[in-house]
Amino acid sequence: MTMWTKKNIGDQTGKTAIVTGANTGIGFETALALYEAGAHVVLACRNERNAQDAAARIQAQGGKGGLETAVLNLANLHAIGALAETFIQKHEKLDILINNAGVMTPPASKTDDGVELQFGVNFLGHYALTGHLYPLLNATPGARIVTVSSMAYLHGAIDFANLRSEQSYDAFREYAQSKLANVLFAVELQRRIEAAGDQVISVAAQPGANNTDLSRFMNEADYNAAVARIGQLMDPWQGALPSLYAAVADEVQGGEFYSPDEPGGYRGYPAKLAIEPHGMDRNVAARLWEWAENESGIRYAF
Ligand SMILES: NC(=O)c1ccc[n+]([C@@H]2O[C@H](COP(=O)([O-])OP(=O)(O)OC[C@H]3O[C@@H](n4cnc5c(N)ncnc54)[C@H](OP(=O)(O)O)[C@@H]3O)[C@@H](O)[C@H]2O)c1
Repeated sequence: MTMWTKKNIGDQTGKTAIVTGANTGIGFETALALYEAGAHVVLACRNERNAQDAAARIQAQGGKGGLETAVLNLANLHAIGALAETFIQKHEKLDILINNAGVMTPPASKTDDGVELQFGVNFLGHYALTGHLYPLLNATPGARIVTVSSMAYLHGAIDFANLRSEQSYDAFREYAQSKLANVLFAVELQRRIEAAGDQVISVAAQPGANNTDLSRFMNEADYNAAVARIGQLMDPWQGALPSLYAAVADEVQGGEFYSPDEPGGYRGYPAKLAIEPHGMDRNVAARLWEWAENESGIRYAF
């Protein structure tokens, strides 16, 4: 695949998209590109002030889409339900849902519902949001769900006995676990969509190594060591391309994973990447789904 950029995005006029964590980093660039292409973009952000600020910055760049802000705290299952309900009352369709928001290596902490924060925000919150919105997505021809993971998923394992940090907390281990859960979720969702005969597409993407606020909890020494290991970081417009490709390119099929194309997945332009066996594990995915169903009380309307 050669150098697919946002210039390759076709006209998105008439489409409605939600981008979670759209106030900064990869989410901001994803929302900006969809807006420039004509979509009506809902900036789902943790607080209204940041959402409004992002909307103003997007508008200032010019574009032909529409913009709307919504407050979304993925660390609170009740708030996620409230946001989804408001959205459903206001909108008749949802073409693109980008599950982008994420938190990396914070000090040990939990969601309002008692789940380890990274697992709760990065995975469970998006499981719940997608479940609430699934009927609307399923009623929208050609709808797509893009869930943003990371190459950190390679190091992840799901420890079902420790999802509330009952035993111990290791910041990077928990991040990798949550990013593996993103991959398992995207693929399992596609399996369930197909089993139901529905037409929605669920895809995973990962942005590579980008200079964003994601490193906000890293100390300088760890950050410098990571950059020395990974090499040059990309600007977030480039990291947004795999999410954008997954959301709009004609070739995309459910269950696929898009990543920057250079070896290691840290840099480059979007390309399909094979998912490693632990990301495709049907038993772990089914167990994870059941856990999320019980934890959130949300059963998808397949
Ligand atoms: N940057 C990279 O190199 C890289 C690499 C691999 C994967 N990723 C993935 O890419 C995605 C975007 O990350 P980024 O690099 O753009 O990081 P970022 O600049 O830190 O942006 C993360 C976004 O998620 C939001 N968020 C965090 N906790 C939230 C919560 N409880 N409820 C709602 N929103 C919340 C943040 O809101 P606030 O600003 O209000 O905190 C922010 O909008 C993440 O899923 C991340 O795991 C990034």
